[in-house]
Amino acid sequence: MKFTDLPLVAPLQMALKDAGYETPTPIQREAIPVILEGHDLLGVAQTGTGKTAAFCLPILQILAKNHIRREPKCPRTLILTPTRELAIQIHQNLVTYSRHLKLKHAVIFGGVGQGNQVRDLAGGVDVLVATPGRLMDLFQQKYLRLDKIEIFVLDEADRMLDMGFIQDIKRILPLLPKKRHNLFFSATMPSEVQRLASGILTTPQKVEVTPPATTAEKIDQTVMFVDKSKKLDLLLHLLKDRTLSRVLVFMQMKHGANRIVEKLLKQGVNAAGIHGDKSQGARQRALEEFRSGKVRVLVATDIAARGLDIDGISHVINFELPHLPDSYVHRIGRTARAGAEGKSIAFCTAEEKSFLFAIEKNTRQKIAVIEDQPYHSVESAVAAVTSVGKAKAAIEKRQRPGGSDGPARSGRFKKNRRFGKPAAKG
Ligand SMILES: Nc1ncnc2c1ncn2[C@@H]1O[C@H](COP(=O)(O)OP(=O)(O)OP(=O)(O)O)[C@@H](O)[C@H]1O
Ligand SMILES: [Mg+2]
Repeated sequence: MKFTDLPLVAPLQMALKDAGYETPTPIQREAIPVILEGHDLLGVAQTGTGKTAAFCLPILQILAKNHIRREPKCPRTLILTPTRELAIQIHQNLVTYSRHLKLKHAVIFGGVGQGNQVRDLAGGVDVLVATPGRLMDLFQQKYLRLDKIEIFVLDEADRMLDMGFIQDIKRILPLLPKKRHNLFFSATMPSEVQRLASGILTTPQKVEVTPPATTAEKIDQTVMFVDKSKKLDLLLHLLKDRTLSRVLVFMQMKHGANRIVEKLLKQGVNAAGIHGDKSQGARQRALEEFRSGKVRVLVATDIAARGLDIDGISHVINFELPHLPDSYVHRIGRTARAGAEGKSIAFCTAEEKSFLFAIEKNTRQKIAVIEDQPYHSVESAVAAVTSVGKAKAAIEKRQRPGGSDGPARSGRFKKNRRFGKPAAKG
């Protein structure tokens, strides 16, 4: 199937041609007709498979076909995202896809002055992309009205409906017209969130290309067992390999990210950090320099985990494992996008084994272990494959004369995997 087989109008077909898109991805193939028919939709598909275009294209078509005069301060469509950088990116996508249409878009987010945003909203817009905080802020200042919204989109819907954002969403929903077209998308969708979503959506169609939390196909995922004190040495060791050309490193905490950036810089590695304590200017600069290749290693917290589409990330390294298993799916999904290949490496200590288990359970797959690295920690490895008691016994056995000098092995170990070799699917 080609894009030309989808019922999209000529200006959109032209924009797709300009962008070099020929074949719709599965989520685009399935979601676009459903949205064009006016149904509410809950869309689940893997990271990097074009969910943005799956909602932007039909929205633009609906707005262009039903062209009504824009009213001051009123957006016709509202797209909410969890982070500022993602809002900016979706806005850029809208501009790309609508370049042959006469539609007006705006993006609003916190951390920057509101003057330009207020000006952009004044005459009304067809599509507004926003983060919830700034949206409510400008609404309360009466620079914005939400009573003419025709289409309401939650990108990263499960994140928007979880603890961090649900209070904002609960305040925003009553401000929207009751009769509206709702579209929710994500690569992960826990069942409790689906239940919550179904209370907001009206007789939605569910398009599930793959079960929620399915990792992108072309990511070669591995785990390295390492002691906490050796993680930085391991990272520096891996970075000697220049095939790690554009590397996104995830940390749990902002100060941890700062610390690693400092240490990398000291060792002559071109690195930058992105997290919530940085100014918006510094966040965008770090991202831009990473995108352009000026910075080789971007050290991030989970603010960079969802939605960001950066070309050519060769490796995602989980320096620390996420405590929420769905975060792992999004973090590693920053590589291997749009059919490209990519690698992910998780650093795992004995203390982090429960997170590793949760991740493997959630993604319904085992992650291949690489032992052939200089900081391989037998203790962490043993802890990760056996219960504590069994681990102790295995270590003791290894230390006894005549005992095996390797770590206790189980089926999940790939004995001869070397770092850098193409992955055998595990
Ligand atoms: N049909 C297509 N043909 C070629 N490239 C495409 C197509 N659709 C989208 N892309 C490209 O694929 C990349 C990923 O798209 P997008 O960011 O929409 O993914 P996503 O499914 O939203 O991922 P995530 O879950 O991480 O947010 C983008 O660079 C986009 O330009
Ligand atoms: Mg996305």
